[in-house]
Amino acid sequence: MKKIVFSLVLSLSMLSLVSCGNKAKEEAPKVDEAQVALIAKGQALFTEKTCVACHNADAKLVGPSLQSIVDSYKAKSVDIKTFLKGETKSILDSTLVDSSMVTIMAANVVNITSTMADEDLDALIAYINSIVK
Ligand code: HEC
Repeated sequence: MKKIVFSLVLSLSMLSLVSCGNKAKEEAPKVDEAQVALIAKGQALFTEKTCVACHNADAKLVGPSLQSIVDSYKAKSVDIKTFLKGETKSILDSTLVDSSMVTIMAANVVNITSTMADEDLDALIAYINSIVK
């Protein structure tokens, strides 16, 4: 009798293991193809529009790291797009930028990002968000 109960428990637990496996498979995150395409477009624009010369994901180049920029914008609940459109000024604090740096980026906003289409700015921002934590 004990043996039967034991094998019953064993087969039940095997069954639940198998069904767990299936569940994990079903819940695997789906690849959002539109989002993937948007990020790829943003990556191309990031190079084409020269952002790549001054910005790196996690290290400061001429400009602050994208990580520090995204963190600051999240903390202050401001949309990066308003800055790129020239609607808001720099929100970064003095530990990240000084006034001479602000002048450098302001020129990029005037000459490049504020003239870009909304969809292109969305792509740029999607790419930036995809390479930070
Ligand atoms: C010639 C170097 C240079 C290029 C090219 C450049 N940046 Fe910057 N960027 C900077 C510097 C310096 C800062 C820091 C000053 C500031 O924040 O205004 C900055 C800051 C920023 C900020 C933070 C804004 C804030 O609130 O302070 C964003 C967002 C940004 N850059 C995005 C971009 C994007 C997108 C591109 C490409 C279209 C780009 N940058 C191209 C130098 C550059």
